[in-house]
Amino acid sequence: MVKLTDNEFLDFVQYMHKNYGIDLSKKRILIEGRLSNLVEKKGMSNFSQYLESVKRNKEEITILINKLTTNYTYFYREENHFKYLKEVILPFEEKNNKSRILNIWSAGCSSGEEPYTIAMVIDDYFKFAGSQWKIQILASDISENVLSKAREGIYAEEAIKNLPESYKKKYFDKTNDGKLQVNADIRKHVTFKVFNLMDPITEKNKYDVIFCRNVMIYFNAETKLNIVNKFYDANKSGGYLMIGHAETIQRNKSKYLYINPAIYKKE
Ligand SMILES: C[S@@+](CC[C@H](N)C(=O)[O-])C[C@H]1O[C@@H](n2cnc3c(N)ncnc32)[C@H](O)[C@@H]1O
Repeated sequence: MVKLTDNEFLDFVQYMHKNYGIDLSKKRILIEGRLSNLVEKKGMSNFSQYLESVKRNKEEITILINKLTTNYTYFYREENHFKYLKEVILPFEEKNNKSRILNIWSAGCSSGEEPYTIAMVIDDYFKFAGSQWKIQILASDISENVLSKAREGIYAEEAIKNLPESYKKKYFDKTNDGKLQVNADIRKHVTFKVFNLMDPITEKNKYDVIFCRNVMIYFNAETKLNIVNKFYDANKSGGYLMIGHAETIQRNKSKYLYINPAIYKKE
């Protein structure tokens, strides 16, 4: 097993924090445990060589982030957010949004279950009036791996078990090998894109709702606040930020107004 030296560990922590906002300062065992095999397989004799190869090669960094973080997700995860969307946000938009355009961002979307759930909830809400609305969901992640799965939109039966029965019937087609594919009507609302949350947001679009759930768990307080501030600028006035229920935004530190657990509003 390739050992991680003290200096290599520090280099790792600094590099990942500076470039990807990921806080690994308490993850020495995780780094060694999850990466040692990979370093060996690559025929490298130490972690320094590996870190150098990561710095030079974009694909390597994605593999590394995939190893150190989790892409775990499922349809209809943390359903309070979808209830709030359906019961509060969409009725408000229906009444007040004259442009009939909804811009949503799922930041850290992993393999697509989150943005597709959002598209389903919105489609289900508007029903027959749906054609009058332009629903644009940007779904981004740092990992191209998960995004290619997301674009296909093919899932095992298990992944959709939390969805309401009516959604399971309405929004999926059966593939030849018995899996389920999100249907084209739902997929057309979602655009997938690689985006590192550490980078500046250059999109001109302002978002009615931003979902960034179970992503900022990897970031330290300072990085998290920077990202939350960027989301604030990217939100429309009156727009919302949804974070994971296990996450918090320090009160008084951000301009967002706390509404409900894991729901914040830009006034
Ligand atoms: C646990 S998944 C969350 C998926 C979904 N939002 C949910 O709540 O089910 C976390 C995702 O964050 C992504 N991620 C981690 N660091 C990131 C960064 N700096 N920029 C963008 N995405 C990142 C990972 O690739 C992973 O797919």
